[in-house]
Amino acid sequence: MRLELSQCTLRPWQSNDVAALVRHANNRNIWRNVRDRFPHPYTQEAAEMWVRVANHNPYEPALAIEVGGEAVGGLGLIFGRDIDWRSAEIGYWLSEEHWGQGIVTEAVQALTQYAFAHFDLARIWAGVFEWNPGSMRVLEKAGFVREGVLRKAATKDGQTIDVVMYAIVRD
Ligand SMILES: CC(C)(COP(=O)(O)OP(=O)(O)OC[C@H]1O[C@@H](n2cnc3c(N)ncnc32)[C@H](O)[C@@H]1OP(=O)(O)O)[C@@H](O)C(=O)NCCC(=O)NCCS
Repeated sequence: MRLELSQCTLRPWQSNDVAALVRHANNRNIWRNVRDRFPHPYTQEAAEMWVRVANHNPYEPALAIEVGGEAVGGLGLIFGRDIDWRSAEIGYWLSEEHWGQGIVTEAVQALTQYAFAHFDLARIWAGVFEWNPGSMRVLEKAGFVREGVLRKAATKDGQTIDVVMYAIVRD
């Protein structure tokens, strides 16, 4: 899939994205706000592995955010299992060089719209660490609703912290 937006393009990861991925993803300020499976430092080997596996599941979009012809971030969906099969978690990150320009808000809106149109999802959600107001703002601008706080639900960077739950549901 490929979505051309006003500020970026969302498209599959490619093998020639490795150098850009290392350059933009190797950042503690990104790592500190995402799951631990996003490595730090973000090595060449980690980037090579990611571009190999990212497209393995065609039904679970894992997309690069391309700006100016370069992959500068990622976003994707992880579908729930068992009774959660109509829910998907949305995750995203962007190179710090491009923060604050509305890029991820537009990307989240576009992927959400695409997902409700193409998959039988009822709910898309994200859990945001308590220290990440920028991501909360992205979700609010994209129409997600703050549902509550999962107290001490995540342990990140040596601290056990609250996770703020945001979701958008199918109309
Ligand atoms: C969170 C992240 C994806 C935002 O991407 P972005 O393209 O800069 O986001 P946008 O520009 O679309 O919107 C950011 C909003 O947050 C606001 N914001 C940023 N930092 C903020 C802060 N410390 N306090 C309050 N608001 C803040 C911005 O002002 C903007 O809101 P506005 O348009 O009303 O002014 C990016 O910072 C990032 O990659 N962070 C690290 C990884 C991450 O947090 N991933 C999400 C995990 S849940």
